[in-house]
Amino acid sequence: MLVSTLALLKVAYGRFIIGAYNVQNMEQVLAVFRGSLAARAPVIVATVPFARDYAGARMLQAMVRAADEMYPEAVAAMHLDHGDEAHCLDAIQSGFYHSVMIDASHLPFEENISMTRRIVERAHAAGLAVEAELGVVAGQEASHSASTRLALTDPDQAAEFVARTDCDSLAVAIGTSHGAYKFQGEQRLHLDRLAEIQARLPQGFPLVLHGASSVPSDEVARINAAGGKLNPNARGVDPADFARAWPLGVAKINIHTDAHLVWYRVHREHFRDHPENFDFRHPGSIFMEEFEKLIITRSEQLGCAGKLDEVREKIYAAN
Ligand code: 13P
Repeated sequence: MLVSTLALLKVAYGRFIIGAYNVQNMEQVLAVFRGSLAARAPVIVATVPFARDYAGARMLQAMVRAADEMYPEAVAAMHLDHGDEAHCLDAIQSGFYHSVMIDASHLPFEENISMTRRIVERAHAAGLAVEAELGVVAGQEASHSASTRLALTDPDQAAEFVARTDCDSLAVAIGTSHGAYKFQGEQRLHLDRLAEIQARLPQGFPLVLHGASSVPSDEVARINAAGGKLNPNARGVDPADFARAWPLGVAKINIHTDAHLVWYRVHREHFRDHPENFDFRHPGSIFMEEFEKLIITRSEQLGCAGKLDEVREKIYAAN
């Protein structure tokens, strides 16, 4: 069942976090829906502009609709991740998405406000929710090519930004970054900053963490043992921090890199161990199983495992 992103975030707020998984091919879409069912967890299916360029926006939509028909018991919302203004408008007009992220965080504060406000007006008129971003999550962002350096979200600016834009959720910078190399030295999220931001926002206002992959060290070690070339010091978010983040208002986290690592490991190991194989279905099937397992593990760490029936009932009751 496809549901509104905002409805999911409201049910989750303060109690658990919902994982948003970026998808770009059939194997990922199937694994996300199967993972939702296996973990009994709601999920957010996200597409970035790169994925839309790769697979085609219409193809991604058709795959998600087909997965929803195949697994009607799963609970999922459809989200455009890291849209620029044109991508957001296209997604709003498509009638398919439940929410869009307008990523104008690289612009000066006033310009970020004006662009976000323009998208909010169009999205709300069409019944979609808008995620905006304030502060800079380091690493490469999908909507603009420059690699960025971390700038933590300012709590006072966050309060002004939310009031002036009327956005529905806010991605905040509290130390995460996109990609496999997030932390150097002591690994940490700035939870103190998160608490300050939450305190200045309206009660129940959902926050979002980008760059939330965990980059498991055993995954990195297996990839390198199978001939991969990742920095063995690659590190991500400690999954134990998720339980500290949901009481502070984080209701959604984005996961992209961890799925790539599963893909990389599965294919490297498969072709190392079966050099005679040239049938893509073999590693493809293993990838789907392994990605589904990742979704189950993350859902447990995010506290949303086992919440499927409760979420569905609350969303029905609210409509
Ligand atoms: P990761 O690179 O940590 O998976 O972050 C993905 C993300 O934030 C997409 O918006």
